[in-house]
Amino acid sequence: MNLTHKKILLGIAGGIAAYKACELVRRLRDAGADIRVVMTENATRFVTPLTLQALSGNPVRVSLWDEEHEAAMGHIELARWADAILIAPASADMMARLAAGMADDLLSTLCLASEAPLLLAPAMNRVMWAHPATRANAQILLSRGIQLFGPGSGAQACGELGEGRMLEPLELVQRLAVAISPPSNPIGDAALFGKRVVITAGATREAIDPVRFISNRSSGRMGYAVAEAARDAGAEVVLISGVTSLPAPQDVTRIEVETALHMREAVMQAMPCDIFIGTAAVADYRPTETALQKIKKNADTLTLELVKNPDILSEVAALALRPFTVGFAAETEHLLDHARAKLQRKKLDMIAANLVSEGRAFDQADNALTILWGDSQIELPQADKRLLAQQLIQIIAQRVTQRA
Ligand code: C5P
Repeated sequence: MNLTHKKILLGIAGGIAAYKACELVRRLRDAGADIRVVMTENATRFVTPLTLQALSGNPVRVSLWDEEHEAAMGHIELARWADAILIAPASADMMARLAAGMADDLLSTLCLASEAPLLLAPAMNRVMWAHPATRANAQILLSRGIQLFGPGSGAQACGELGEGRMLEPLELVQRLAVAISPPSNPIGDAALFGKRVVITAGATREAIDPVRFISNRSSGRMGYAVAEAARDAGAEVVLISGVTSLPAPQDVTRIEVETALHMREAVMQAMPCDIFIGTAAVADYRPTETALQKIKKNADTLTLELVKNPDILSEVAALALRPFTVGFAAETEHLLDHARAKLQRKKLDMIAANLVSEGRAFDQADNALTILWGDSQIELPQADKRLLAQQLIQIIAQRVTQRA
């Protein structure tokens, strides 16, 4: 865990977990970070700026209107200075203000004025965390690429038990290091040089009639991030994409398809290749027949007959000229058991497993993956999908090189 010379702006919002920010500052310094602390007015009621000034070794700022501090390092300079902004604790109020784009104090203004990654460690009473308003704010923040670290569950300062505790300082430092550092062994420019990589991404659509279809929540973000990471590692990339709103990545050949059958055809035409990565959420079934005209709602019930779609990934893994084949397993429960079973059943070289229950992963900017192959397993903790994709490509490149 290394944050040497990383400039971390630590925001502290008003909540009892603010006392843990003292320990957090020490841990950040141990990891080599250069820290500036900014507190909200409310935070100063829980812990004094003087304590944090002593621990961080730098003046602590609270107000936008502090002439002396503005003269030394103005707030815009401070916003530019930061390599990352971590707010710990992030109260329900802080999350609401950030979600709304408010700039009514120094900390919220800095968040709006900075292009640095923003990371939040929520901490609040369990009912506040579970409140639909907070849930909606968390969704908005996640959809903007802001990462949430935790909260964890357990005993709360208010005497209740549940989800809402701030993660421990050491875990926050670890998460921060993963989130803002390039992968420990960055993908060499040429790790996949000369390799042809075919990737499926996004959701397929299976038509019921001319206006209706069966599909799923996949946004395609993970697959697009994997395509970009493979390109950055020097590969020639063919991205076979289901329906998504994402723009085509530069220097990647994108082939757009709609149904699972189209996707299979495009994949087979793109063979042979060195590496195949199936990130697409392919519809398992399609209507046996597609009505030529819009189906009328005359009857009280309507039965759709569905037929199984071909499993593209298994078909690729069964080819005589077989690429290194990687699948994804999105599961709502028993993640690793299901993923390992899939790895064997589909005869894959590797599988990336992720949980998709309770709003996780689908249509989110971040994700967490467990990569499985043979008897091995690597955990890639919650992070931006682009960072995860780089880490996945790095692991694939290592395996492919070892096999060659
Ligand atoms: O069996 P399941 O759908 O959970 O497997 C997921 C993996 O298989 C993903 O990599 C997905 O892209 C791939 N898949 C496929 N064709 C299908 C169904 C899934 O390529 N018809």
